[in-house]
Amino acid sequence: MMKQNNQLMLHIHNGNQEGDTAFFRNRYLFNTVLDIMKQRPQKKFLIFFHACSIGAEVYSFVIHYLLQQSNLQFEIEVFATDINRHFLNVAQEGFYPDHILKTMTNEEINYFQFSERRFVTPIDEIKQKIKFLSPVSFLDFKSSKTMDVVFLLNALTYVAEEEQTIAIQRIANYNSFLFCVADVHKRTIKADVQVNGYIPITTNIESIHQAWDENSNQDLLANEDKTNKSKFIKIPDYQYKLCSIFKKKTLIL
Ligand SMILES: C[S@@+](CC[C@H](N)C(=O)[O-])C[C@H]1O[C@@H](n2cnc3c(N)ncnc32)[C@H](O)[C@@H]1O
Repeated sequence: MMKQNNQLMLHIHNGNQEGDTAFFRNRYLFNTVLDIMKQRPQKKFLIFFHACSIGAEVYSFVIHYLLQQSNLQFEIEVFATDINRHFLNVAQEGFYPDHILKTMTNEEINYFQFSERRFVTPIDEIKQKIKFLSPVSFLDFKSSKTMDVVFLLNALTYVAEEEQTIAIQRIANYNSFLFCVADVHKRTIKADVQVNGYIPITTNIESIHQAWDENSNQDLLANEDKTNKSKFIKIPDYQYKLCSIFKKKTLIL
């Protein structure tokens, strides 16, 4: 059985900046995003990760892609950054203590190689697909390229509500297809995405949302059938407030 959400949180600090993250933090999200991408007749996708911390989510996404590659007809090129230079250095080097493997499936572990002193690193095939950029805030970043998919996960609450509005407006300028987000300012998220032409994709919304909150070392698959959609439906605008995947209504080509 595939582990759907079995994660080991890595508690990362640099001064007073916090970069908590995990490998395979939300398998539901990445698998759903790849499924949506698969439905488009497109040969290559540019993917951008903001606020990537030490890189765990970026490497995890590429491993998800490689695990499914035989079913996918497209290539990916991945870019990533964070505001914190030290987190980005760790991401770029890509060496992690071997206990990160503890909550991975054997298939996922195959994409890591052992290095010295009980450290592991993603294999070259993964590293080659990712370009880590210079540190930059998602509030300031401008892209010369149009990005098909932009991830901004668990970082918007690090800025004020009105800065979320600015961040999403900026991202919408260079994002053509999917905008994936988690942990948002809920009061304004609906207006922030709508004004920029995004609509929510609610496929697997409950599983994806629940996975962000789950404790580590729990297999959510057992709970999947028990999820009760009505629990969400009672929340006004749940499609926006609890959603992690938004799609551009009018696609930029
Ligand atoms: C809780 S961590 C989330 C890491 C990862 N995205 C995840 O979900 O596992 C928040 C990250 O946001 C970054 N961050 C905070 N404010 C930022 C900003 N204005 N621009 C870019 N990154 C920022 C932090 O440096 C940190 O790495």
